[in-house]
Amino acid sequence: MDPRSAAMIALYLLLGAVLAVFVGPPVVRRLKHRGLPEVVPRQHDFGKRRVTFRLALKLLEERGARVLVETGTARHGLEKPRSDGASTIVFGAWAHRHGAKLHSVDLSPDAIEASRMAVLEHELADAVALYVSDSIEFLRSFGEPVDFLYLDSYDYSRTDAEIQRRSQAHHLQEFRAIEDRLHDRSVVLIDDCRLAGGGKGKLVVDYMRSKGWTVVKSAYQVLLAKQ
Ligand SMILES: C[S@@+](CC[C@H](N)C(=O)[O-])C[C@H]1O[C@@H](n2cnc3c(N)ncnc32)[C@H](O)[C@@H]1O
Repeated sequence: MDPRSAAMIALYLLLGAVLAVFVGPPVVRRLKHRGLPEVVPRQHDFGKRRVTFRLALKLLEERGARVLVETGTARHGLEKPRSDGASTIVFGAWAHRHGAKLHSVDLSPDAIEASRMAVLEHELADAVALYVSDSIEFLRSFGEPVDFLYLDSYDYSRTDAEIQRRSQAHHLQEFRAIEDRLHDRSVVLIDDCRLAGGGKGKLVVDYMRSKGWTVVKSAYQVLLAKQ
């Protein structure tokens, strides 16, 4: 090989190494990033929940949702979108932009206080109402038709079968407590479903299907609607 060709090959190899070390990782990070720029700044990464959050928001838009209810408030605001979901800020921001209202209930006064701080920080107080209550009691006494229901309260366990059973039973009871205020255009999203033991949705999804609900998307979360 003549010296000129050898120098060219060395140059290409060097360029390849520079690309692999300095350009590759940011590009991969960017491709893996799952943002929701339609509601919160792009840098927040929603990971496994992005696909179902995005689909749910699209359905809410199409169906003109106005009354949104969630069980289990976002106690870390927008700080932990990948691990917890940051649902109160996501659905609160959507509600704020669409003249809707998000009602968020949690058993823990500390969680509600932390959520209240985050709601104020994101200037969503006009669109989010927060309640300290057991979710089932709250849902039973909720007086309005509900366009969107997000179930994410009783914490699930990846290992403890008794906690799994209680969490699944609780989410079924939540749905049954509000069932008669849901209508044909309501949308329901259940968190933490694709987990060992069946996740939070194991009982409630079966029950809903038996009542004529259709699974729109089954991923880490399960999204259901009547069609
Ligand atoms: C997984 S966290 C909610 C995460 C939140 N949706 C988010 O996206 O960041 C579960 C919350 O449910 C609450 N919780 C547990 N049992 C409950 C019950 N029976 N009624 C209402 N809230 C409950 C806990 O206090 C906790 O704050």
